[in-house]
Amino acid sequence: MAFFDKYREKAENELLVEVRMAKELGYYPYFKELCSEQGPVVDICGREVIMLGSNNYLGMTTNPKVKAAAKKAIDEFGVGSTGSRLLNGTMELHVELEKRLANFFGTEEAVIFSTGMQANLGTLSCFLDKDDWVISDEQNHASIIDGIRLGRITSDRKKIYKHNDMDDLKRCLKEIPKGEHALIVTDGVFSMHGDIAPLNVITELAEQYGAGVYVDDAHAVGVMGSNGRGTAHHFGVQDKVDIIMGTFSKSFASIGGYVAGSESICQWIKHRARSLIFSASAPPASVATVIAILDIVEKDDSIRKKLWSNTKRLREGYLDAGFDIGSSETPIIPIIVGNDMLTFQFFKNLFEETPRSVYTNPVRVPAVPQGGQLLRTSCQASFEYEVLDEAVEIITKHGKELAIIS
Ligand SMILES: Cc1ncc(COP(=O)(O)O)c(C=O)c1O
Repeated sequence: MAFFDKYREKAENELLVEVRMAKELGYYPYFKELCSEQGPVVDICGREVIMLGSNNYLGMTTNPKVKAAAKKAIDEFGVGSTGSRLLNGTMELHVELEKRLANFFGTEEAVIFSTGMQANLGTLSCFLDKDDWVISDEQNHASIIDGIRLGRITSDRKKIYKHNDMDDLKRCLKEIPKGEHALIVTDGVFSMHGDIAPLNVITELAEQYGAGVYVDDAHAVGVMGSNGRGTAHHFGVQDKVDIIMGTFSKSFASIGGYVAGSESICQWIKHRARSLIFSASAPPASVATVIAILDIVEKDDSIRKKLWSNTKRLREGYLDAGFDIGSSETPIIPIIVGNDMLTFQFFKNLFEETPRSVYTNPVRVPAVPQGGQLLRTSCQASFEYEVLDEAVEIITKHGKELAIIS
């Protein structure tokens, strides 16, 4: 009991004071309950809401073929795997999906994890040994930061380069002693601002300095490159990227993560990554969902094209209204607000609009730097233009009321 007293006090005096006050004033934006499917318009606590806060880029959560495949998998394989991939938890569906992913990305092999977070934790930590170096973009996802922390690599061998700054990356590479090697780690598409890592330059520098390249393509698969093969394919440098990592929790409308690369890399991961070995594998329905989506996207690029035309529409709507959308180049389009209070007020006003409202993701420090607080919005292929226009109208109305735009 005594151990948790400290945390009870901290919770009562700090955390819960803030949470309760935010709830009372109606500013608390987290853990909202959905009473419907994740679609372009959702039901949140009896409220009809245009969903601009989801990573359901291809709108696959409600696709009838995908749902049928998930149901069939339950009938054939049951509801759970009850074990780690290493032991009893490898079902033929897992192996099938790994083969399909390797084929999709053009790699020798792929390995699937139960979440994307676990993929980054397990993979980065099993490669970053004491005598290695790592060079990581300052805006990389939290799971990359934690994966690097979990490795045996010492802090003096970790270098952070300024976001997407290739001169700074070069500076870091130059500091690596001759004969030693570094792994460059970057998001393909950055999750807060929706900008793209210049993998053409990164891979060139990597080649020049003998570094490895690890790309977290969580927000790029399904979105970038031919048929959604991701950022490396977008730049045509897939042969120069050593590891493509990603998640099934966004375009693939499921849960799970993956890593694709050479046979030796994937076999190393399968036998060394602790988050793979000491955790149960993904349930059959989740795996079958991804296979069914691959069946669709490999043959048909039209859904991805719709996503991009919707993205253009939304983006232009924001720009016409005068919003600052930062460096966004993809379906992730932030609206830069600049401070906490205004960000939460903006979120609240949008969410409480009637008869239909808009859900966005309020983002504060440390996910963005001080002064860069924003509402993150994400586009989906399943939006109709009218719904996007309606969302822009609501956002513009409240943006003006709060003097975020004039
Ligand atoms: C860039 C990036 N990497 C990794 C992850 C983790 O993926 P998952 O949701 O599958 O754990 C996310 C999810 O938010 C992400 O945005």
